[in-house]
Parts: sequence; C-alpha cells; structure tokens
Amino acid sequence: MHLNAHLAALGAALLLPAASAQTYGGGGSKGPGPDKDGLYWIKSEGLQAAFITYGASLTHLLLNDQYGIPRDVVAGFDNATYYELDKQHNHFGGVPGRYANRIKNSTFELDGQSYHISPNENPTADAPLGADTLHGGKDGWDWRNFTVVAHTDDSITFTIVDPDGKEGFPGEVVSYITYTVTDLTWDFKMVALATTKKTPIMLSSHVYWNLDGFANNETSTVLNHTFHLPYSGQRVGVDNILIPTGDILANKEGSVNDFWSAPKQIGASFDDPELKGNCGFNCTGYDNCWLVNRAQNGPYDWRSDGYVARLHSAWSGIQLDVYSDQEAFQLYSCNGQNGSVTLKTTQGLHDNADFPRTIPQYGCVVMEVEDWIDAINQPAWGRQDKQIFTPGGDPYVLQASYRFSINGTSSK
Ligand SMILES: *[C@@H]1O[C@H](CO)[C@@H](O)[C@H](O)[C@H]1NC(C)=O
Ligand SMILES: *[C@@H]1O[C@H](CO)[C@@H](O)[C@H](O)[C@H]1NC(C)=O
Ligand SMILES: *[C@@H]1O[C@H](CO)[C@@H](O)[C@H](O)[C@H]1NC(C)=O
Ligand SMILES: *[C@@H]1O[C@H](CO)[C@@H](O)[C@H](O)[C@H]1NC(C)=O
Ligand SMILES: *[C@@H]1O[C@H](CO)[C@@H](O)[C@H](O)[C@H]1NC(C)=O
Ligand SMILES: *[C@@H]1O[C@H](CO)[C@@H](O)[C@H](O)[C@H]1NC(C)=O
Ligand SMILES: *[C@@H]1O[C@H](CO)[C@@H](O)[C@H](O)[C@H]1NC(C)=O
Ligand SMILES: *[C@@H]1O[C@H](CO)[C@@H](O)[C@H](O)[C@H]1NC(C)=O
Repeated sequence: MHLNAHLAALGAALLLPAASAQTYGGGGSKGPGPDKDGLYWIKSEGLQAAFITYGASLTHLLLNDQYGIPRDVVAGFDNATYYELDKQHNHFGGVPGRYANRIKNSTFELDGQSYHISPNENPTADAPLGADTLHGGKDGWDWRNFTVVAHTDDSITFTIVDPDGKEGFPGEVVSYITYTVTDLTWDFKMVALATTKKTPIMLSSHVYWNLDGFANNETSTVLNHTFHLPYSGQRVGVDNILIPTGDILANKEGSVNDFWSAPKQIGASFDDPELKGNCGFNCTGYDNCWLVNRAQNGPYDWRSDGYVARLHSAWSGIQLDVYSDQEAFQLYSCNGQNGSVTLKTTQGLHDNADFPRTIPQYGCVVMEVEDWIDAINQPAWGRQDKQIFTPGGDPYVLQASYRFSINGTSSK
C-alpha cells in the first residue's frame, strides 16, 4: 500500500551500502565521519544505527519488521544540531553521567566529607534550583559533546573528560563509550576511570524505544508492547519524587510491578488503582528501578545465560532481548511525554489523521541498564564497590548486548 511503499523507499534510502556518500559524509583515516546532519552511521547485516557527539547519543536505529518494512525504533531528532536547540532536554538516546538517575538532596558523603551536586529537578520554595539531582546535574554528560576517537563501518567509540569539580563531583573522570553492531545485535561497552580523586560513577544508556517505529496504525502508544523481567522479583522503594527510601520491595505475583512471573503488556495494569502514584506524585505508569537478581543461582555468564529484559511488539513483530552485566534495570513509560515532540522523518504515519506525527504520553519506553539507583546514599545496600572508584583502582565497566529478532506471536 501507499504508506508501506513510502516507508520502504525511505528505508531503502537509509540502508545504503557503507561506501555511499549519501549516507556517510566525511572520510579519512578515522573512518567514514558524520553525514550532513552530523550523524555517524554504523551498520551490520540487519541494523543501521546513527550516533551524535552530543551525549554520545543513539539517534536512529533501523531494522526490518515482520513484513520487511524498515522501522526506526528509537526516539530522537533528525539532525545533531537540533539536540542542543531542544528546550525540553529529553535525554534522547544519550549516556547519563557521571551519575545516572537521582541523587537525594543533591548530596552524598565520601570518607566523611559531604559533596553538593548541582540540583536540577523538583524545585521547591526552599530549594529553587531543585530538591535533587537527575542524571549528573544541569550540565550532565548527556548534554555535552563527546569526542569521536574511532569510527568504522560497524563500530564507533566516543570519549569524554569530565573535569574535577564539574557539577560538584570530586576528581576528573575519563570515559570511553563503544557501540558496535553485528547482525541483529547492538552491543555497547562503557568504561570510566577516576584519574585524580575518589568519586562516584554510574552510567547507563537512555534510549526511548517504540518497536513499531511510531507507525502502528492501531495505537500510538507502547501499552500493547509485551515486557518481561525474569530476574526482577524486587524493586527499589521510592518516595513521591522518586528518591530511594532505602527499602527494597517485593513485586508480589500479580501486582502492578510484577513483570517477572510471566511476560505482560506494559498497559496490562493501567486500570489497577495501585498503579496511580507508582511513578511519583499523581503519576500513573512506570519510572521504577527493578533489581536484577541472578547470583543466587550460582555463577552466570551475562552474555549467554538469558536476557534480563525482553520487549516485544506483536504489531511489528520486533522483539528486543536485553543482555547486561548490570544488576538493576529502570523502565520509564514516557509518562511525561504529551505530544510536544515531533517524530523524525524516518518514523510515524505520513498520511493518517488519527495519529499525529508526535510522541504521545506512553508513546515509548526507556530501558536503562544500570546499578542500584542512589546507592551512594544507601550504605546499608553494600554497593560501594560498584559505585565508588579510586585512582589506580578498578575501572567502572558497563556492558550490554541488545539482540533483536522477529516474533510474530502476540500475547495479552
Ligand atoms: C533538524 O531536525 C529538526 C528536528 O528533527 C527539524 O525540525 C529541522 O528542520 C532539521 N534541520 C535541518 C536543517 O534539517
Ligand atoms: C556540539 O557539537 C555540535 C555538532 O554536532 C555543534 O554544533 C555544537 O556547537 C557543539 N557544542 C558545543 C557546546 O561544543
Ligand atoms: C540537603 O542539603 C543541604 C545542603 O545542600 C543541607 O543543608 C540539608 O541539611 C540537606 N537536607 C537533608 C534533609 O539532608
Ligand atoms: C496497518 O498496518 C499493517 C502492518 O503494516 C498493515 O498490514 C495494514 O494494512 C495497515 N492497515 C491500514 C488500515 O492501513
Ligand atoms: C492492548 O492493550 C489494551 C489495554 O491494556 C487491552 O485492552 C487490549 O486487549 C490490548 N490489545 C491487544 C491486541 O493486545
Ligand atoms: C493529577 O493528574 C491529573 C491527570 O493528569 C490532573 O488532571 C490533576 O490535576 C492532577 N492532580 C494534582 C493534584 O496535581
Ligand atoms: C508538554 O511538556 C513540555 C515539557 O515538559 C512542557 O514544556 C509543555 O508545556 C507541555 N505541554 C502541554 C500542552 O502540556
Ligand atoms: C514471542 O512473543 C511471545 C509474546 O510476547 C512470547 O510468549 C514468546 O515466547 C516469543 N517467542 C519467541 C520464540 O521468542
């Protein structure tokens, strides 16, 4: 039909061979370089991905759905320039750092010394700049330009040097982020080193997913995507601005946060009153950190011993299995989207009045592989070795493998 033909043509244009000047601009010894939109493309047999220096962000990820139609399954903008112009600062596809998620009262202690980080969320009369810090402060890593140090046809590596004292954090941190595509798999590895002082480090990847490429002609949300967290019988308890209280809670079987006992659609519990307030004050949906409990079953190989999360859309048939070495997993169901962000030209329906070319509330999910959030303020959890880094000590390392497949089966 007309729509599909249009998308297929668009996809074909984007799925050009590596040598094509239309897809890859630049050239030279460091690899193909950015195209005219500032996008650095990498590709494999089944995937075509683009990145920008801003936040080392993933801007585009295209693969064929069950009908062979290319779908761009991540939210973002058409070009690198727009990421800095966007007033909403959505953290689309970037690397939050040096400390992802929230820091209680923008404060933590290390060796008896108290550190105050730039606040940037939940302003109050007492704290006009914010009652907490989200994603490393008002100038966190995902709002800064990284430097490209290597770029080949299927891989790209970014680096950032985060100076001593930036946003209030102690010591310099140097980090490398490498993204690689192979067949239908997107892999990434994040390494960070404390070079001058002891400091907290926790990174993540902050991609907004819609496995229908925002082109589903039956619903504009992801509430019909099926989600599974097989190792996540527990979650981090939070207050009404999503700051951990220190309590670890059980996700009782059948409760709104139970995605472990069986796969369940994201929207399956939306009629349950228990879901109201689940993502903060007066918020219905998800913005929660589940624990990934694997070690109790003995040693495991994160690359092969089962996914920590699976997201699947029966409409496109696209299924995404997330493998990771991290011991927590955040899901955010785009509760804060409200139709004010325009889709990329690679996405959405181009001639359907029922579905405007914008991202609605619940139009996407962010899936963040990470460590236990705000553990720097919860010494009782015993996560110091995973979150506090010292010059000359072990590096911070995060590894993940996002594996796509086509699964035409539906489930409620
Ligand atoms: C850059 O992207 C933005 C948002 O996707 C779009 O509005 C704008 O027209 C684009 N600019 C150019 C020069 O393509
Ligand atoms: C970041 O890089 C973009 C190009 O992708 C450039 O337009 C912008 O000026 C840079 N910003 C800073 C703060 O260097
Ligand atoms: C929050 O941090 C401020 C300093 O930024 C401090 O004065 C205050 O006591 C802290 N509040 C709590 C509840 O820890
Ligand atoms: C809806 O999308 C599906 C899958 O691409 C397609 O088969 C179907 O024809 C579309 N329906 C309409 C009414 O456009
Ligand atoms: C989509 O989700 C809604 C709300 O959860 C549910 O009522 C409906 O049955 C789902 N549709 C499909 C096709 O799974
Ligand atoms: C709660 O949310 C609803 C729906 O978004 C809104 O209409 C209402 O004003 C909110 N209530 C409060 C107390 O903020
Ligand atoms: C939508 O959300 C954005 C970002 O939070 C906000 O600036 C804007 O005012 C909201 N628009 C509406 C219509 O609520
Ligand atoms: C396909 O998806 C369904 C529903 O999400 C799930 O139950 C089933 O295990 C999946 N099949 C494969 C082969 O992954």
